[in-house]
Amino acid sequence: MKRADLELPDVDAIAVTSGPGLIGSLLVGLSVAKGIAFARSIPIVGVNHIEAHLLTPLAEGIELSPPFVGLAVSGGHTEFIFVKALDDLITIGSTRDDAAGEAFDKAAKLLALGYPGGPEIDKLSREGNRESYSFPRAWLGKDSFDVSFSGLKTALRYLLASMPAEKIEKEKKNIAASFQEAIVDVLVTKLFLAAEKFNVTEVVVAGGVASNSRLREEALREGKRKGIKVVIPSPSLCMDNAVMVAIAGALRLERGERANLFLDALPTL
Ligand code: KG4
Ligand code: ZN
Repeated sequence: MKRADLELPDVDAIAVTSGPGLIGSLLVGLSVAKGIAFARSIPIVGVNHIEAHLLTPLAEGIELSPPFVGLAVSGGHTEFIFVKALDDLITIGSTRDDAAGEAFDKAAKLLALGYPGGPEIDKLSREGNRESYSFPRAWLGKDSFDVSFSGLKTALRYLLASMPAEKIEKEKKNIAASFQEAIVDVLVTKLFLAAEKFNVTEVVVAGGVASNSRLREEALREGKRKGIKVVIPSPSLCMDNAVMVAIAGALRLERGERANLFLDALPTL
């Protein structure tokens, strides 16, 4: 608010994430939002966190042209969504265990890197050879848009257990690059298979993991090859932020949607 040179009286509605997410975070956000809405007598509207990630490009003036396939990929979610219209989103696949960001974070921990692990692995991978190690890809069937990353994490654990500490230190960049490649390969392959199946000419990749440089590079390259428009928000807007919630809320308000002070937290929305 300070940076935008705005004060509370300038705000004419409040948008808040009602789900999905961790119940504690949702309740804190909802309490603050309801407090402001009540005190200022302004409308309140609840938004879906995944929807907010996928609509982020609108905040940068990038037009979205549904129908498109969205990939919302973060620390808590890996969801393939068929966006029929901006108010009609259908989940077509999701992770059966770890989210992609969670896999990056856990791998970083095994490699004794910092948290969050995604940016650390991304940085290290730039100096590594992504073909040095062969990590498993769980395809889960040609027609499935579900993903699974727990086997990949176990493969990394076994690989590290089989190596002396000095070798791990020497090979860290190559291991990180090969591990990252396994995640990117599955996400990009499934994204474009979904685009084909749902017959769309646009895909949107959003969420914290969408700031991964290799994922961006591969998605853009494959889009170019297949003649499919690839939209990815700027890295700074890929991670959780308030702008994406505001944009999703503004669209809902425009459609006449209003919540009230009974708006609930829905962790599995
Ligand atoms: O969307 P987000 O900020 O929060 C959730 O809704 O989870 O995503 C955070 C996740 C973390 O797991 C973090 O490691 C991952 O996004 N992440 C990355 C990169 N930057 C953030 N993963 C891979 N490469 C990155 N450059
Ligand atoms: Zn998020």
